[in-house]
Amino acid sequence: MTGPSLPRLAPGSTIGMLGAGQLGRMTALAAARLGYKTHVFAPDAAGSPAAQVSASATVADWNDLGALERFARSVDVVTLEWENVPVATVEHLRRFTGVHPGPNLLSVAQDRIAEKSFVNGLGIATAPWRPANDAGEVARAAAEIGPRCVLKSTRLGYDGKGQARLDEGSDPAAAWSAIGGGKPGVAGIVEGFVTFACEVSVIVARGADGAMVAYPAVENRHKDGILDVTIAPAQVSAATAAEADRIARRIAEALDLVGVLAVEMFVTPDGAVLVNEMAPRPHNSGHWTMDACATCQFEQLVRAVCGLPLGSVERLADAEMTNLIGDDVDRWPDLLAEPGVRLHLYGKAEARPGRKMGHVNRLLPRR
Ligand SMILES: Nc1ncnc2c1ncn2[C@@H]1O[C@H](COP(=O)(O)OP(=O)(O)O)[C@@H](O)[C@H]1O
Ligand SMILES: [Mg+2]
Repeated sequence: MTGPSLPRLAPGSTIGMLGAGQLGRMTALAAARLGYKTHVFAPDAAGSPAAQVSASATVADWNDLGALERFARSVDVVTLEWENVPVATVEHLRRFTGVHPGPNLLSVAQDRIAEKSFVNGLGIATAPWRPANDAGEVARAAAEIGPRCVLKSTRLGYDGKGQARLDEGSDPAAAWSAIGGGKPGVAGIVEGFVTFACEVSVIVARGADGAMVAYPAVENRHKDGILDVTIAPAQVSAATAAEADRIARRIAEALDLVGVLAVEMFVTPDGAVLVNEMAPRPHNSGHWTMDACATCQFEQLVRAVCGLPLGSVERLADAEMTNLIGDDVDRWPDLLAEPGVRLHLYGKAEARPGRKMGHVNRLLPRR
């Protein structure tokens, strides 16, 4: 579907940003470089990574209708760095200003069952899956899918949180309680465990006029459920890279995306590509584009929501991105001294275990 172009917002305009973490921060930095201002809105915006580099910030709850209206009226367009902003919040904001990506897309991306149903409806493969809303349903799903599987909460998971692995002999009741089963609003999905050759992702940017660009597929290696390293481009066959690209573009188009979308995929040993999940915002696996591409993923988001032409995704170098998690950040003096390393820190005061504190990009000659 191709919509009308958005009104072109000139430099000097203000972008409203829902969410206040590092993705908002790096979007605000890209916006500032093009002469735009950013106004952050989040319950935890005070002193946040994004607010530190934005022109203004509103600290208010997602359901504070008055604060949302004042925010919407003070900006020229709204986008987001966190896909779990309540859909009702976005619906309210849309009464006063444009919000991209919009509520229909968010409602798909917020729920693993909606997401997998949507993807499968496009004829795109995922791991086999079943909804499961009590221990008995977990056991039944595992019996149908096979004993090696993963139980996930359908909503609000990130960095491997809200997940439990199952195998032969596992206790479905223990897995169900491990993901918060039984608590209000917690629903589950059981997915077959994929013995993947590697994990890849593709990041697509799309304008309201249907124009679309995609970065090459990259390989993602996780540690303890958290992204550790991204290798750009992925060392996969040309056919696999092309299939990952086709899948990501197909999903972006079908969702009528305006903004940036990351699609995470598994590559099986026989070369099949299965969708794992997606995120309608800049993504950790796209941080390499900040130093290695003509236009980074954050600038693409700014361009898409401001009705500007999308930028070139030309790869100027190959790259390896490494996340700095928790105490890793203490290595900053050595990293600064390493030639060819680009250090990015997020301005977070406290280095808690598992917390993303920054990342480094190492540029490599193009293969
Ligand atoms: N069905 C699966 N089979 C194999 N590994 C999985 C599966 N689901 C998740 N994982 C592993 O766990 C990581 C995190 O899971 P994911 O579904 O991407 O959740 P999130 O990133 O939201 O925490 C994946 O990148 C992958 O390494
Ligand atoms: Mg993931």
